[in-house]
Amino acid sequence: MKPLFTFFRFFIISIISWIPFQTCAKETASSISDTDIYKEFCLKAATDEKTFKNFKRFHGYRRILEHLSYKQGKKHLKYIKEHYPHLLVFWDRFSENDRLGNPATFNFKKLGNASPTTLRYVKILGDLESQFGDLSGKKVLEIGGGYGGQCKVLCDVFSPEKYTIIDLIEPLKLTEKYLSKLKVSENHPISFVTPSETSPEVFDICISNYAFSECNKDCQQEYIDKYLLNSSCGYMLYNKLGGPSFSTYSLEEISDILIQNGYNVFITREEPLTSTYNKLIIWRKI
Ligand SMILES: C[S@@+](CC[C@H](N)C(=O)[O-])C[C@H]1O[C@@H](n2cnc3c(N)ncnc32)[C@H](O)[C@@H]1O
Repeated sequence: MKPLFTFFRFFIISIISWIPFQTCAKETASSISDTDIYKEFCLKAATDEKTFKNFKRFHGYRRILEHLSYKQGKKHLKYIKEHYPHLLVFWDRFSENDRLGNPATFNFKKLGNASPTTLRYVKILGDLESQFGDLSGKKVLEIGGGYGGQCKVLCDVFSPEKYTIIDLIEPLKLTEKYLSKLKVSENHPISFVTPSETSPEVFDICISNYAFSECNKDCQQEYIDKYLLNSSCGYMLYNKLGGPSFSTYSLEEISDILIQNGYNVFITREEPLTSTYNKLIIWRKI
């Protein structure tokens, strides 16, 4: 009886532990977020008004974006106050980012209600300005732009000559809708490009936060050849989530490729840190 019970228990545990992997990326996926559940949800949010109204609350979406805690939000606000206080003048504009999609917001002292993700976009904007100066008139590329929050916040302060977002087709439809509702794409030249439409192009600044690092090696190689090595400078928040079966370039390998191609590379810890091994990599053509 006991061996039968042990076998049965093992069988049940195997089935249960197998279920979540059904929602993980397939072997052919270009990145860890390239899953049916995520892409189908993005498409639904882009096409169905009711879903769009609450898209920042959907559990499956929050696994990819919009998952920062109140504590992390507080750390980002503290960082902004200490390093980029001039940006808080634009808070009324930035906070429009929390008007859509019903994000989880928290009350921050002297600021009011805000989503921690919006605060992170503002902090990153401060980094970009402090590293690369005035971003107006620049050709900016963002690889994996999410719903377009970074683009919105950047365009609240600067007028780039061009802002191109590359993303999977379904998330990109949501980005288009989002930036159109906020009138960002009406007032700025934003281009939306799917992976199958990419071709080599020169940009002043290449940005990719928690996105390039989540792509597989083939996809990364394509972006390196077409964009990273064609950019004057770049800013990337690098997170490593793939696991052993998902092959990606390590941070050191990316750095070596950039150095070998005539860039100065600077790597530091993500600040404030949102996941243990996250790093910031910045590169500039010598
Ligand atoms: C973790 S999210 C980060 C989004 C955004 N950068 C941010 O900071 O909020 C990863 C992004 O990469 C996008 N992505 C997934 N696979 C991609 C691919 N092959 N090429 C470009 N973007 C991709 C996802 O759709 C998503 O927008």
